[in-house]
Amino acid sequence: MDIQPITPTDYRTIVFFTGAGMSAESGVPTYRGRGGIWAKYNWQEVACEEAFRRNPGKVLEFHALRRQQLTDCQPHQGHSIIGALENSHPDVTIITQNIDGLHQRAGSQRIIELHGSLWRLRCSREGKVYHLSLGEKSPVRCQCGAWLRPDIIWFGDCLIPDVVQRATEIVGRCDLLIAVGTSAVVWPAAGFPQLARDQGAQCIEINPEATEMSFLYHVSHQGSAGEVLPALFPDAITA
Ligand code: APR
Repeated sequence: MDIQPITPTDYRTIVFFTGAGMSAESGVPTYRGRGGIWAKYNWQEVACEEAFRRNPGKVLEFHALRRQQLTDCQPHQGHSIIGALENSHPDVTIITQNIDGLHQRAGSQRIIELHGSLWRLRCSREGKVYHLSLGEKSPVRCQCGAWLRPDIIWFGDCLIPDVVQRATEIVGRCDLLIAVGTSAVVWPAAGFPQLARDQGAQCIEINPEATEMSFLYHVSHQGSAGEVLPALFPDAITA
């Protein structure tokens, strides 16, 4: 695989747009493709508002199991490289569809979570937010007695307007967007690479498989996050 390294200082504003494939080498299952979460679970039963109203306990159990599985997962070198770049370059932002918190655990801070986080629950009555840490047993009810809802954008939910506005603003002014591990089938997130391309950013895709959006990237690296990111940013490889 012939991968031309990138000099980060050649770019003013860098965006990493990540999906579930970014976490695959950490042992976190993707949603689609072989062994995907939606091949094992029916999202209509565990990942939408209607399922939560119908059977909150089952929905909470599904999310608690995913949090528990994450206790055995560690960020991989690709996460660390992105984290290191944020420290060495003045304007690096991660716009992630992932809810697993692995970018945070790799030290990244400038993160926009388009689809929320497994590590937050909010009261379904008052909206009060509860933050969970790795390994912590998740409560199911708020102190007020109402069910706690995972603070996640489920199928059929609208994204949080402020989150979309911040992501759109940054994608609209970046000069490098690197999409890592997304199938680009869930909107509006899937529209961000096109927005970057339309405003003149250099667009790079990292994915072992071609996607519906591969046509719009200047470069598509058909490889994994853990092998391509170190080759793209050899100077950011942390020990
Ligand atoms: N490195 C990079 N990409 C990978 C790797 C890897 N090691 N392994 C798999 N991939 C790619 C797959 O080829 C696929 O294109 O990652 C992509 C994962 O796609 P999805 O499972 O559809 O995940 P994602 O694109 O993040 O899904 C978007 O859908 O279910 C909703 O809200 C959920 O945020 C999620 C959204």
